[in-house]
Amino acid sequence: MNNLIQIDPKSFVLKPHYLFNNQWFLLSAGNFNKNDFNCMTIGWGSIGTMWNKPYVSVVVRPTRHTFHFMEKYPDFTLTAFPEAFKKDLAYLGSHSGRDEDKLAKTQLTPIKAQQLTAPNYAHAELCIECRQIYSADFLPSNFKSPDLEAHYPKKDYHRVYYGEIICIQGDIKYC
Ligand SMILES: Cc1cc2nc3c(=O)[nH]c(=O)nc-3n(C[C@H](O)[C@H](O)[C@H](O)COP(=O)(O)O)c2cc1C
Repeated sequence: MNNLIQIDPKSFVLKPHYLFNNQWFLLSAGNFNKNDFNCMTIGWGSIGTMWNKPYVSVVVRPTRHTFHFMEKYPDFTLTAFPEAFKKDLAYLGSHSGRDEDKLAKTQLTPIKAQQLTAPNYAHAELCIECRQIYSADFLPSNFKSPDLEAHYPKKDYHRVYYGEIICIQGDIKYC
């Protein structure tokens, strides 16, 4: 594990749009101890407060292998990495764990997270451990902007998952 420090959600500092849209996160779900988990790169999501809890939301299409792990297990992690690992995130975001041991094709090493079952990773600069508190499917009938439907030529509308933030470990720049 890197020299990451424990961060209170109240003092968590980040550039959310940059992190999701430019740096990307790795979303992991499953159980590290049982070696039953999967991960994929994500670029969409949010972070804030809901039901008085600090939360992260992620959106997962049902066609993703990771979707099955999100449904099977109660928690997930979001990890961010230094720029040197961007090519690994690109690989994990364009290949499926359904077809291969895709992590083995990268420099990333899964390690036990601090509190929950989904993995953290050696070399991560940020790990957010989340316990699921809500999920729902996006309904096209609720789209308020006509450009949204263009993201779904296969009609594989995302399921959104809200996770309460249970634990944050990060580089000093995140606090
Ligand atoms: C930059 C980037 C962002 C992505 N964001 C998402 C996302 O937010 N939600 C999603 O369902 N797929 C997203 N994907 C696609 C998945 O990461 C990709 O389909 C992956 O291969 C799924 O792996 P899996 O089948 O092992 O779960 C993204 C891919 C990339 C490269």
